[in-house]
Amino acid sequence: MILYVNCCVRSDSRTDRIARAVLSKMDEYTELFLSAEDIRPLDEKLLAKRDELLSAGHFDDPMLRFAVQFAEADKIVIAAPFWDGSFPSLLKVYIENIYAVGIVTRYGADGIPQGLCRADELVYVTTAGGKYIPDFSYGYIKALAENCFGIGKTRLVKAEMLDIVGSAPEQLVAEAVASL
Ligand SMILES: Cc1cc2nc3c(=O)[nH]c(=O)nc-3n(C[C@H](O)[C@H](O)[C@H](O)COP(=O)(O)O)c2cc1C
Repeated sequence: MILYVNCCVRSDSRTDRIARAVLSKMDEYTELFLSAEDIRPLDEKLLAKRDELLSAGHFDDPMLRFAVQFAEADKIVIAAPFWDGSFPSLLKVYIENIYAVGIVTRYGADGIPQGLCRADELVYVTTAGGKYIPDFSYGYIKALAENCFGIGKTRLVKAEMLDIVGSAPEQLVAEAVASL
């Protein structure tokens, strides 16, 4: 199963358009449109519930559905615009919800995470109004995927400078699609 994690907020999202071009070169996919999901930041009550489920091995509980779905995907495409040097906070909340020890990762005796995800590739798609700086968006996702989730390959697909006066955003998006 190919999982499309859609964290694009605007209805005419350019990031989403590029992501769908990436997906068109793959197989059928399951879309998770984050804005439409009931995904909440973990508070004390939710944390306690999750700890209980994980220690009892109740991985089929609805609360863990996003983590199980992520762990079982064969390929993952994440689309998120470049916001405030990073990505929309909704994506961080999603990561908080999928990062379940025992499902997407586990700790070795040395304290180093060992990935449990099936996916062999994660593609991160983004667009930026100005120059794209990957440190706190793609850089973070790549580090998690490779060091914690066991996903061997990550790839960045981007279009940048879309909102700069004098730029031709449609052409830049078309170039990103043509480069796939
Ligand atoms: C809340 C918000 C924060 C943004 N922050 C940045 C930023 O830090 N750097 C930048 O280059 N562009 C920034 N932008 C511009 C977006 O990255 C750009 O318009 C992007 O193409 C939006 O993607 P979309 O068309 O998929 O919605 C921001 C836009 C919004 C709405």
